[in-house]
Amino acid sequence: MKEKLGSTNALYPLVTAIVGATVDGTPDFATIAHLGIAHLRGITLGMGNVHLTNKGIIENGTFSVNLPSEDMVAVTDHIGMVSGAKEDKSSLFELFYGELETAPMIEECKVTMECKLVEHVRLPTHDLFVGEVVGTYADVDVLTNGLVDIAKLKPLLFDMASKKYWSLGEPVAKCWSVGKEYAPQSS
Ligand SMILES: Cc1cc2nc3c(=O)[nH]c(=O)nc-3n(C[C@H](O)[C@H](O)[C@H](O)COP(=O)(O)O)c2cc1C
Repeated sequence: MKEKLGSTNALYPLVTAIVGATVDGTPDFATIAHLGIAHLRGITLGMGNVHLTNKGIIENGTFSVNLPSEDMVAVTDHIGMVSGAKEDKSSLFELFYGELETAPMIEECKVTMECKLVEHVRLPTHDLFVGEVVGTYADVDVLTNGLVDIAKLKPLLFDMASKKYWSLGEPVAKCWSVGKEYAPQSS
């Protein structure tokens, strides 16, 4: 039996990222869990339009997406509770830049991406940003055969219902493979 939960968005868990941008020459960061993949190089961000970081994304047409590991949970949560309008968050991390030059990336995050803004949709309360990844940087210790190994990265997963950060579990099956064994039941 199912219970109807109103119009609750139940699309959780989602990976927690720290999104960076340069606002009036100063790097700023926001913790963002409402992000998604539009296509293999396309990233979407749903960001409340009151956030300072949005200003930098619009100003420069660039942003970074940094993936904190489990050991960065406290600073990730802090960034998500304090606005750059109240506290300068630019010195919380060691920063580096790629070819876009205005997308501040976080050295302490083992995987980071610099993105250029390709679409900006103004929703009533939120900015929907669509970015294209132009550069991806990863610490070698989270790679297996040159690819990001999520078991090594240990990303933070965000769940709205429990309001908790979760960690990854075990793999279940191989994609584009296990379905080959599936036999539809005939009624
Ligand atoms: C776990 C977590 C997830 C968050 N996800 C989002 C999100 O997806 N979209 C959003 O607009 N704000 C989100 N926030 C809130 C922003 O990170 C927060 O308001 C931040 O202080 C904005 O900083 P800024 O004003 O310097 O840009 C989240 C906060 C936390 C703690």
